[in-house]
Amino acid sequence: MGAMTTTRGRLQVALQAAFDRLAPGADPVLRPSEHADLQSNGALALARTLGRSPRDLATEVAAAPELAGWCRAEVSGPGFVNLHLADHFLTGQLDRLSGDPRLGVPAAAEPATYVVDYSAPNVAKEMHVGHLRTTIIGDALCRMLAFAGHDVRRENHLGDWGTPFGMLIEHLLEIGEQEAVEELSVGDLDTFYRQARASFEARADFREASRRRVVLLQQGDEETRRLWSVLVAESLAYFDDVYTRLGVLLTDDDVVGESFYNDALAGVVADLDAAGLLVESDGARCVFPPGFAGRDGEPLPLIVQKSDGGYTYATTDLAALRDRVDRHHADRILYVVGAPQHQHLEMCFAVARSAGWLPASVEATHVAFGSVLGADHKMFKTRSGDTVKLVTLLDEAVARARLALGERAAHLDEADRHALAGTVGIGALKYADLSTDRTRDYVFDFDRMLAFEGNTGPYLQYAHARICSLLRRAHTDAGARPGALQVATPEEHHLALALLAFPEALDGALGDAAPHRLCQHLYELAGAFTTFYERCPVLRADDPATRDSRLRLAELTGAVLACGLGLLGIGAPERM
Ligand code: ARG
Repeated sequence: MGAMTTTRGRLQVALQAAFDRLAPGADPVLRPSEHADLQSNGALALARTLGRSPRDLATEVAAAPELAGWCRAEVSGPGFVNLHLADHFLTGQLDRLSGDPRLGVPAAAEPATYVVDYSAPNVAKEMHVGHLRTTIIGDALCRMLAFAGHDVRRENHLGDWGTPFGMLIEHLLEIGEQEAVEELSVGDLDTFYRQARASFEARADFREASRRRVVLLQQGDEETRRLWSVLVAESLAYFDDVYTRLGVLLTDDDVVGESFYNDALAGVVADLDAAGLLVESDGARCVFPPGFAGRDGEPLPLIVQKSDGGYTYATTDLAALRDRVDRHHADRILYVVGAPQHQHLEMCFAVARSAGWLPASVEATHVAFGSVLGADHKMFKTRSGDTVKLVTLLDEAVARARLALGERAAHLDEADRHALAGTVGIGALKYADLSTDRTRDYVFDFDRMLAFEGNTGPYLQYAHARICSLLRRAHTDAGARPGALQVATPEEHHLALALLAFPEALDGALGDAAPHRLCQHLYELAGAFTTFYERCPVLRADDPATRDSRLRLAELTGAVLACGLGLLGIGAPERM
């Protein structure tokens, strides 16, 4: 067995050998079990193909020599095989985790190049809670993929181009560059955008100037380009500030904004034309990918060039897809974008496939997510109906974390208390988002996310900090350190299984791009540890060998919790 085979993988191999004896290649159907550590349901399906009794087959599997010694197998029900792993086997498996920075997670058998499109706020527009979700989920996926051994290319498809920039630049000129920079640098993006819109709607001269400005921008007029880059740079500085406070990996190097594709847009349209895919409709140039219809049943167009000659959001996305395959040699492209853009993305994928830009070997996936709702279960808005400023949410999360920490943080000095409140507050906010199935909507609730009980960030951080404190105390009070493992009690057995299931949890989370699966596993692990700690005395264990083994279990649990939280982009303080 290679050092990197997971416990479940090892069992899978042994069971496969047992099933091969009955029918080569038959699936053992290994599943979690309520009554045992795991169960194999494969005998049921095999009985039908072989025309034999499922219980007989299950009995033969249970008696297979491959399972003997390390796994007790018993037949149950109509033909399930319940599997109980031997304590000495679990001990051996856990031994290999100690000191392993990967905590049993094997490096990807087939490392792939992933392009992850996430965050993508729009210049001179406030980031809204939707951008919070894409930023947090995308970041967790990037961390998990990289840890699993993949090559990850983060791409921030910044909304930095399009007709609104004519109006935005004109507004900048009206209020003066200095004033504009001040507004934008303090993150007052909404005021800036709203005032520009208001002038555009109210004044014909402003509208006219804005139109001329768009043309200048597209023609590459130097001064116009400079003013545009002021808007981009100031907005980006503000977004960077949000990223830093959120503790996400995104940097300016990851920005590949819409403007990056300007020079490629004409080629996209020309190549679609050459491929015979273009259809002219009301003066606009469109592609009708098969399988997309509107409510009326009419085929839906993807417009790639408007009647005025301008290109669209879709043209840009097609150019981006092409670039991701050509330049990055992506094997998989993940779009972490809200559910309302599903049809747009699927249409882009379909057109790119027809055009031959997205070969069958490359997978493009829309990693969709639901909405953030307010307490009234409606879209999360301020009382006046405005978008909620993200920084206000972050500030409030940290302020509330500070209150929630209260006494716990009383012994810390001011700087440490501030840092801890940041880690707990931001961690709580991120965990609340990541722990819900991303496809569902969720209600934004500070009280719930900051609770120290339940499936929350603070609960897991606290579980980790408690373990660190136990290890410190063991050392200072008794000179004890984690020692040789010996899994013996049912609670230790259960905890060992949870520790050894970390690789599968990560794998499951990556398979569906579903961070909540990793969250759920960490929550269950923390629960298994709590039960263990309640029933199995550590510092007061009967003998030093038992104590040191239990300290080792605690240490491994702490390591998995810290690693798992880290993969979600959440800090794990050693004291709180
Ligand atoms: N800027 C867009 C928005 O705020 C999101 C872009 C998503 N990515 C993409 N490749 N279309 O809605």
